[in-house]
Amino acid sequence: MSAPATPPPALQEFKDNLRAAPRRILETAFRSGNPSTDRTRSTFIFSNVFLHLHSVRVHRWTLKWSTSMGLGIATTAGFLLTLITGILLMFYYKPYPDAAYQSIKDIHFVVPTGRFIRNIHRWAANVMVVTVILHMARTFYTASYRRPREFNWLIGMGLLAVTLGLSFTGYLLPWDQLAYWAITIGANIAQSPREVTDAIGITGWFDPGGMQKFLLLGSDTVGPEALIRFYLLHVMILPLALMALMSVHFWRIRKDGGLARPADADQRLGNAPGPVYPVFTQAPLKTYSLAAIVRGRTPAVGNGPENTVPSMPHLFYAELGVFMLTTLVCLALALIADAPLKELANPSIPENPAKAPWYFLGLQELVSFSAFVGGIGIPTLVLAGLGLIPYLDREEAGTGEWFGGPGGRKVVFQALVVGFAAALAIESFAIRFGWIREWYLAVPQFVVTVLNPGTILAAVYGFYSVWLVKRYKSTRAGALGLFTCFLCGFLVLTVIGTYFRGPNWVFYWSPGDWPRH
Ligand code: HEM
Repeated sequence: MSAPATPPPALQEFKDNLRAAPRRILETAFRSGNPSTDRTRSTFIFSNVFLHLHSVRVHRWTLKWSTSMGLGIATTAGFLLTLITGILLMFYYKPYPDAAYQSIKDIHFVVPTGRFIRNIHRWAANVMVVTVILHMARTFYTASYRRPREFNWLIGMGLLAVTLGLSFTGYLLPWDQLAYWAITIGANIAQSPREVTDAIGITGWFDPGGMQKFLLLGSDTVGPEALIRFYLLHVMILPLALMALMSVHFWRIRKDGGLARPADADQRLGNAPGPVYPVFTQAPLKTYSLAAIVRGRTPAVGNGPENTVPSMPHLFYAELGVFMLTTLVCLALALIADAPLKELANPSIPENPAKAPWYFLGLQELVSFSAFVGGIGIPTLVLAGLGLIPYLDREEAGTGEWFGGPGGRKVVFQALVVGFAAALAIESFAIRFGWIREWYLAVPQFVVTVLNPGTILAAVYGFYSVWLVKRYKSTRAGALGLFTCFLCGFLVLTVIGTYFRGPNWVFYWSPGDWPRH
């Protein structure tokens, strides 16, 4: 009879457990184990709170570089970088006019790594604006806004608006001359409906412009009330709104069946090159019975997961790559160029010219013709037009394809010519010969509001796209033309506003030509 095994002494057991603790911590954190089989790759995703918004398998079309160019992920990376660096900046920033400027100076010159973190924050915010605009253009040109993704396009527009709002509110926080006077201009734009209510003489009892300005600033001028409002919007309300919208945006991508792809994507892809992880290599752990009768096309009965690959590792490694590249670009920019900081804000000495952030300079150019048309009229038209795209274009040809739809590349190329030519011609005319107010001093403001370079440019683009709809008998062709023209106009106006406008918004070929005093 063999002697019973003696239990290990308690001290020995304690030592073994201590040695095994790091491995066990990992095992309990990632309960699915090493993602090396079909099943563990799936459990890796749906047992992780951050990853389970993804589906466990992804279509090979989605992974093609040209499908999304990673622009949505790059935008997400830009946001996370601004979020992390923004939280770090909050340790030192003080949102009171007499302390704000000094606290930014401290961050820039005194706090260890403060300048680097501030630079990353500024650059990541800029990168985010660029990538979100490119991402919107990508989803538009691949007609990915069509059924069932219409509402996600609208959520995207909300994301665009909140992204620009975050940037605008952040602009005031350093409380330097640039910030102070750019926000003063922004507030005057908010007040610009007065241009119309004054013209028809109703401002005394109906003043939406004045109300908008007061809501924005909490006062008649940019002061402590405005700073605390902008601060709260910048660090709390808008980031929360962005995170909520992003969650819905991502969740809907999943519910809409992943990214849009052409109907014949499977034929076009052909057989997968190289080895693909095998599907259904293990017997199922559970069995299912048909528990409900489901409406619609949801259960993919009879459809195998052909032409899909596990998200882990294919999709996640691609996403990780885009994250790392975006971070690298932001870090490099932060090392090369400093975020600007001018002198302390001085309400009695206007900055001239006071320029908004670069992506609002196209608007500022339009505002110089008419505050109401440039600041409210045209932006509202553009937003309404963009929002309606998926509901007006109900066609199917070309979904998921670059420049898909009737006319395709030819329309886009022609629209590039029309878009650039019209914007350059109208701007050159206005710069060279002036506009109605310079010709007839006494002309009523209402006439200038209705007839100015901005409204004429919008009308040219509008008529051109209606012509395209008729010519190709297709709403998509009209949308391709209008969207491309809109991008051209945005580019031309932004470049003129950024590089060729000086004091009093006069045109100069170079800042070297600006008057000295
Ligand atoms: C903060 C801003 C935004 C973030 C973080 C974001 C993120 C993403 C991501 C990660 C995807 C998956 C595909 C990809 O990476 O491109 C996506 C898809 C999509 N986004 Fe966005 N997005 C934003 C803004 C927008 C805007 C402004 C629009 C349009 C107005 C938009 C419309 C769409 C649509 C329609 C899809 C589905 C595309 C498809 O099925 O191919 N998004 N977004």
